[in-house]
Amino acid sequence: MLTRRSLRFASAMLVASAALTIHVPAQAGAVEDLLSQYKSLGVTAFDAEAAKRQWTTESKDPESGEMRSCSKCHTDNLRQTGKHATTGKLIDPLSPAAKPDRLTDVKQIEKWFRRNCTWVLNRECTPQEKGNFLLFIKSQ
Ligand code: HEC
Repeated sequence: MLTRRSLRFASAMLVASAALTIHVPAQAGAVEDLLSQYKSLGVTAFDAEAAKRQWTTESKDPESGEMRSCSKCHTDNLRQTGKHATTGKLIDPLSPAAKPDRLTDVKQIEKWFRRNCTWVLNRECTPQEKGNFLLFIKSQ
């Protein structure tokens, strides 16, 4: 039976959980935040198809002569577990459909763009390319 006390407890819990919901940081907006940042740098439109082509396009590493691409570690199926081309370590799927915490942290995304673009292209990716990749990865 519902006593007045248990009712009061239930309503206190409701208030507490509503407050928790409000204070959860807006992580889901990481991609949107980055896209608007890239737009403020002059990009007018993003192109997921261009990123899809770039994903498997190989670039020759000037030092080793090795052919490198994004798909070399992440495979060409982003819902699949990847494998690091040099260390052999497994890499969780990049697709948010396969791994929901993907693309939720601006700092992580920029850090890995910096590392991976430099490894594959021997330069950093442009804001245009990064925006394209984000749309592409998100859609997979
Ligand atoms: C040499 C292996 C390798 C290559 C090549 C590579 N990546 Fe990655 N990538 C990683 C590793 C390792 C991580 C971090 C581990 C993880 O997030 O599971 C990562 C993480 C990422 C992330 C972060 C995802 C998130 O949720 O924060 C993005 C975005 C990404 N890679 C994009 C790319 C793009 C674009 C390319 C091609 C330009 C590329 N990667 C090429 C190994 C690679």
